[in-house]
Amino acid sequence: MRIGVIGAGYVGTITGACLADHGHNIICIDIDQQKVDAINKQKSPFYEKGLSVLLKRNEIKATTEYTQAIPNAEIIFICVGTPTKKDNTQDLTHIKNACEQIGKNLQKNQTIVVKSSVVPGTTEDVILPLLEKYSEMREGNDFHIAVNPEFLQEGTAIENFLHPDRIIIGCKNKKSKKTLETLYKDFTCPKLFTSLTAAEMIKYASNAFLSTKISFINEIGNICKKLNIDTYEVAEGMGYDQRIGRAFLNAGIGWGGSCFPKDVKALITKAKELGETPRILESVLQVNQEQPQKPLDLLKKHIDIVKGKEIGILGASFKPETDDIRESRSIPIIKELLKEQVTVKIYDPKAMDNLKKIFPTISYCSPEEVLDSDAVLILTDWEEFEHLNYKDKVVIDGRKIEKARKESKIYEGVCW
Ligand code: UGA
Repeated sequence: MRIGVIGAGYVGTITGACLADHGHNIICIDIDQQKVDAINKQKSPFYEKGLSVLLKRNEIKATTEYTQAIPNAEIIFICVGTPTKKDNTQDLTHIKNACEQIGKNLQKNQTIVVKSSVVPGTTEDVILPLLEKYSEMREGNDFHIAVNPEFLQEGTAIENFLHPDRIIIGCKNKKSKKTLETLYKDFTCPKLFTSLTAAEMIKYASNAFLSTKISFINEIGNICKKLNIDTYEVAEGMGYDQRIGRAFLNAGIGWGGSCFPKDVKALITKAKELGETPRILESVLQVNQEQPQKPLDLLKKHIDIVKGKEIGILGASFKPETDDIRESRSIPIIKELLKEQVTVKIYDPKAMDNLKKIFPTISYCSPEEVLDSDAVLILTDWEEFEHLNYKDKVVIDGRKIEKARKESKIYEGVCW
């Protein structure tokens, strides 16, 4: 099928590359010339495992011009960003611009698919009216709409796209249902067809639930710590219960990234707009905001006066296998350490360049230099941290690195 993908960011490029690998003809549209140039040179505009291989194997085109991409496409995916505004509502600027441009270039019988995460109701209340206004056409008669949320995890996004647990398709009529059934015909996972709004909510409810699982195990973990219990043993024991499951029960310093914080906040704001009090979601957020204090408290337990000391940090990214530091738990921790006037030495395999933009004056070092500090905090569970030498070190671990637990002179895990 001929597919236009609006937005060559994380979701758009992965969607384009994976659908190209399934034999579809892809053209990406982005306002950022650099991204467009990278894709046209078959290079990945950002780091994601396996993406450059797909881009090399499948030639996908990119352009800044809607006029070149929209008229020939059978399906148009909207994959632009939906950041959070200061008041915690969604900033729909990119969505609105995309709708205007799509609308102005829309042809009869095209299907527009919303992949961007938008709070429930946005497709019906904002996207559809704009498309109808700018195209001067009617959904159902002239063009079709669907909501098809993404469930891509950074680091495993290609695998997630190509072998998903499920595909969710919200649609309004048989035509868009049929088009997306055809698009995903080779995917063997369950496919669930819902209303537009339910599909939007499935995305938010899924991210909110996963965040809840983590905050829950962190709260249990904080209790475990006081009782000298290893929360990972508790998680394993709970995980065998099929109603619970072991995934996302890794206790530590909390969740970050570009999705969970933004989506939980947006859902809370939406709930409040509707007159609801989202008590669980508020607590999930609060537990997560407080969790970075735990390693700092443990540090002070072992080092009486931290002022003037050298503190090493292993890991800056919000999780392993990415250079992404958005909402990483390392950021509030480094801020607190700097307030205490300590010398911060940090190592991360991929995220140091990004961290330099926020903390230009801290020391960026090798892992060995970091370990040569008065104490070391482990903040990301990079696999390579399982191969360092922790002998004689004072280590406060926020992510459960086994080798550090076994070897360090003084070792404290946040929830174990
Ligand atoms: C998340 C979801 O997992 C994806 O399904 C979703 O598509 C994506 O958001 C999105 O909305 O686009 P991602 O942000 O890549 O994916 O990150 P996760 O792997 O979910 O991890 C999020 C955070 O939770 C990380 O900081 C990680 O360290 C933390 N985490 C995860 C834990 O602290 N414990 C766990 O057991 C699991």
